[in-house]
Amino acid sequence: MDIREFVEANAAEFAAALQEWLAIPSVSADPARHGDVRRSAEWLAAYLGKTGFPVADVWETAGLPAVYAHWPADGEDAPHVLVYGHHDVQPAELADGWDYEPFEPAERDGKIYGRGASDDKGQVLFHALGVRACLAASGATAPPVSITMLIEGEEESGSPNFAGLLTDRRDRLRPDVIVVSDTTMWAADVPSICTGTRGLVDAEITLTGPSHDLHSGSFGGGVPNPLHALAALLAGLHDADGRVTLPGFYDDVIPLSDAERDLLARLPFGEREWLTGAGDSGATYGEAGYTTLERIWARPTAEVNGVWGGHTGPGPKTIIPGQAHAKVSFRLVAAQEPAAVITSLREYIKTFTPNGLVATVTAGHGVRPCRSPIDSPAVAATRRAMERAFGREVLFTREGGSGPEADLAGILGAPLAFLAVGLDADRIHAPNEYVDLSRLLRGAEAAAYLWGELAAGAGTDPW
Ligand code: BES
Ligand code: MN
Ligand code: MN
Repeated sequence: MDIREFVEANAAEFAAALQEWLAIPSVSADPARHGDVRRSAEWLAAYLGKTGFPVADVWETAGLPAVYAHWPADGEDAPHVLVYGHHDVQPAELADGWDYEPFEPAERDGKIYGRGASDDKGQVLFHALGVRACLAASGATAPPVSITMLIEGEEESGSPNFAGLLTDRRDRLRPDVIVVSDTTMWAADVPSICTGTRGLVDAEITLTGPSHDLHSGSFGGGVPNPLHALAALLAGLHDADGRVTLPGFYDDVIPLSDAERDLLARLPFGEREWLTGAGDSGATYGEAGYTTLERIWARPTAEVNGVWGGHTGPGPKTIIPGQAHAKVSFRLVAAQEPAAVITSLREYIKTFTPNGLVATVTAGHGVRPCRSPIDSPAVAATRRAMERAFGREVLFTREGGSGPEADLAGILGAPLAFLAVGLDADRIHAPNEYVDLSRLLRGAEAAAYLWGELAAGAGTDPW
């Protein structure tokens, strides 16, 4: 039986197992569901054990548990691949607008519905089917590469303990390649590979002036107004070309190569359709000299998320407010560091806050951006595997969203390759999340081919 035949022959069993797992509401953000996150980890470890992984354990962290499974190759020299995904899911309630109970999964017209179907349980589980298909097709008892699955339980909560887990277990993990299955393709009929995710960091800015709100007749014009100063600071974050003005903001940005720009330009992008999906925005906008896809995937941004202060109730109230507040966030691209951006923001605010006002800035930890170069051998192998599974040319995308990929690559010291079959249309994080069973089966197939491709490239490819 070849890989595709095995995958198709076991599709029903796979779909049933996925639905059993989706019924466990592993919402990491909800303390009342933390017992379910643990049950989800136990379910997955047991299932991977049944699949044939000689080691399949629940790994404790300082927070919610991860799952570690390992299946060594026969040969000593075979490359070691680590597969990353997550078993926790976003919150979901029927009342949010679901047409079905989010944790009562069901298959309808070839689609599997339920919270986590696409993000990320479906994409984790296709690996269990893929490795079995790989073995069935070769007749071997061990895969051609050593496979580790590391599936965390806190991704949807910002992976607060994942870097610590990687650091503690670094010597045990030691992969040559990291395969991430937690992103999307361009379209069901345009398979593609993600080659980078943006990072993120947020901050709250407060400007304080008079110790209480002042009468604007008695004092207006005589003291600085915190809201005026804040408006100027926020407006000054961008220049006339839509570039961010923070000192050194672009210093660490790795520019897009001409080859990457050519590949992104080949994606069938329809501006009107895209604007419809962007809440019927009236026009595109952004940094001069870049296309929309380049702007949202490969360029960093500064966004003002909210501004408040002073009088916002009914009718006029003629005051100079004591304080002004704003929340801002930055999407980052490789190799920007969240902490460096915050340092620069503090410097900018300090420089441009008028005399007589006091500025405070509090910032989050942020998520680092990541990038996997299109000319890396691991990405080339993934592309060949995807092309075999989908029978089409595979293009390249990037992702505007974020995850712990930079920590994986940085702490474990291995290159990233994204093997994923999600779609923006899967309604991840939204009501009625679903995934096409046929897409997950292509994912299983691609994974099975990838193990062969990586084994064949070993020795010749420096990862
Ligand atoms: N799988 C997503 C990331 C993603 C989003 C990939 C959209 C492809 C398309 C991941 O589970 C996620 O939701 N990440 C969050 C990170 C946050 C919770 C720290 C994000 O991007 O907002
Ligand atoms: Mn995810
Ligand atoms: Mn998610």
